Amino acid sequence: MNWSERVVLVTGGARGIGRACVEAFASRGARVVLNYRTSGDEALAIAADYRKTVFPVQGDVSREEAIRKLFDAAVTEFGAIDTLVNNAGIVGRTKFPDLTGDAFLDMLNANTVGPYRVTREFFQRLEGRPGAVVNIGSMRAFLPTSVDYAASKTALHNMTVSLAKAMAPKVRVNAVAPGFTDTDMHAGSRDRLDAEGKKALLERYSTPQDIADAVTFLASDRARSITGQVLLVDNGRSLA
Ligand SMILES: NC(=O)c1ccc[n+]([C@@H]2O[C@H](COP(=O)([O-])OP(=O)(O)OC[C@H]3O[C@@H](n4cnc5c(N)ncnc54)[C@H](OP(=O)(O)O)[C@@H]3O)[C@@H](O)[C@H]2O)c1
Repeated sequence: MNWSERVVLVTGGARGIGRACVEAFASRGARVVLNYRTSGDEALAIAADYRKTVFPVQGDVSREEAIRKLFDAAVTEFGAIDTLVNNAGIVGRTKFPDLTGDAFLDMLNANTVGPYRVTREFFQRLEGRPGAVVNIGSMRAFLPTSVDYAASKTALHNMTVSLAKAMAPKVRVNAVAPGFTDTDMHAGSRDRLDAEGKKALLERYSTPQDIADAVTFLASDRARSITGQVLLVDNGRSLA
């Protein structure tokens, strides 16, 4: 397939899994719109490494106005976006019963409604052209964990299935559900990351590049017969 004809948007693309996705698509020759919210220095550094192929755009993708501005800027730079990676997300830190309803709603807005808003804008701007969406869910949607985080990712997985039907036949929609992956999300809990890696069937945790490999596959034409699927990439941790 010819990646040079593809224009990819990665939300939250300056760090962690998002960054690995940006670099994976850009190194294959795609043009990549790198959305970031607060990590401006990191975004500019990546854009400097991939001159002319990575275009950084600041914006909070949980807000509709910011999403519209993001797509406007992207289209002016690269033309229409045909591939979307809904990666931006936050993690839950507050345990039940301290978790308030308002904090729960903030989580849903960041991890579920935000990706919905971005996908809706993406689909409307495609105007019938073919495209692909990959949502970044989580293994933790399948296990007991933070109430708000697990609920937000379970909803994202379910939304993947519903949107695959709603956006067919021209747009494929899939999700990658990572297990424990070495990013800043675990910055304060390296011991836990090590311990969880040891518990997995494959006795390892993932690198961001492991997740990006699955994302680029699902976004590629090699996955042309796959839609509405959630691919667990967790080293078998959920089976252990
Ligand atoms: N690491 C894991 O073990 C793991 C496991 C399962 C799923 N995941 C999922 O993988 C995705 C990426 O997480 P990560 O591990 O790479 O964590 P990370 O290093 O903390 O990165 C999170 C990214 O999300 C961005 N972001 C958050 N809210 C945003 C918003 N409203 N608008 C724009 N960008 C926003 C951040 O942007 P700024 O830095 O610019 O603010 C940052 O780039 C998340 O959806 C997470 O739930 C991670």
